Amino acid sequence: MMNTKSPSVPMPDIGNTFSEEKHIVLHLGDACDFLKSIPNDTATLIITSPPFNMGKEYETKTSIESYLSQQEPVIGELVRILRDKGSLCWEVGNFVKNSEVFPLDIFYYDIFKKKGLKLRNRIIWHFGHGLHASKRFSGRYEAILWFTKGDEYIFNLDSVRVPAKYPGKRHFKGPNKGKPSGNPLGKNPSDTWEFVAQEWERELWDIPNVKANHPENTIHPCQFPIELVERCVLALTDKDDWVLDPYCGVGSALIAGLKHNRRVIGCDKEPEYLKIAKERIYSFSEGTLKIRPLGKPVHVPNGNEKVAQVPEEWKHQPGVSDD
Ligand SMILES: C[S@@+](CC[C@H](N)C(=O)[O-])C[C@H]1O[C@@H](n2cnc3c(N)ncnc32)[C@H](O)[C@@H]1O
Repeated sequence: MMNTKSPSVPMPDIGNTFSEEKHIVLHLGDACDFLKSIPNDTATLIITSPPFNMGKEYETKTSIESYLSQQEPVIGELVRILRDKGSLCWEVGNFVKNSEVFPLDIFYYDIFKKKGLKLRNRIIWHFGHGLHASKRFSGRYEAILWFTKGDEYIFNLDSVRVPAKYPGKRHFKGPNKGKPSGNPLGKNPSDTWEFVAQEWERELWDIPNVKANHPENTIHPCQFPIELVERCVLALTDKDDWVLDPYCGVGSALIAGLKHNRRVIGCDKEPEYLKIAKERIYSFSEGTLKIRPLGKPVHVPNGNEKVAQVPEEWKHQPGVSDD
């Protein structure tokens, strides 16, 4: 399959069925059906954000019981495909019915545990902006359940260390007294991650003078930030390993894998998303895809922007100050 856009750059060969010979596999169809065609012990990292049963444009909302029973066979296939030293990262938010919140990670945990996987972290992905709730506190995080198949697994901590807040800290007693106490490569990024979410960026889109629009925006209503997946790819796989996203949407997980020389497999049932995924992969190969750099600090207003100031008309209301 060749793209004719740019004759100077060889476009990647994208297979639509699984083959060890390919580096990129992108399949249009139902995840459960497609997964059956992938051999046992193939993927070193399975990372996905499944449909949340929220009635988004690509799903039909059903009871939580029926939703989870539809996911069980998919999870069975994924565990079969996962290599012994591999990892599975399952990114989910809440299912909400009649204003009652059902945290999906709690419901999913038992399914994975029953299949023999072991939880290594429940990572909180925190984002600063989103919808404003009026009957409960506004939701500002989703969870990533990181499971491994076995007790021996890849964990390249040094590849994902982040700058320490106080690198100059020193041991104040003991045999190392006076020596730096941290790691020169930085600190462990912890289990609370701050990556910019798409909704936040959409909100900022309309604000003049704020140049923080997310460079990765597509038409997909809930795509992964590529940098979130990059951290998992770097920590949990080695070069040339297979990274699989069974619900790949516009292919964010695949681009994160390709960026670090991993082989990638994606599947989605929506032709429009898959077309964008393919275009993004081609743009990535050409070097024209805009990607928010891993580790770039989240934009913090300096207070001088118009949007950071209390509106004039609020200042004279009781209880409102511009401090
Ligand atoms: C939460 S989105 C994932 C978005 C993705 N992480 C990205 O960055 O674009 C879930 C995706 O699952 C896809 N999907 C839902 N049911 C599916 C099924 N049975 N088989 C394959 N894909 C499905 C939807 O089309 C949607 O793109």
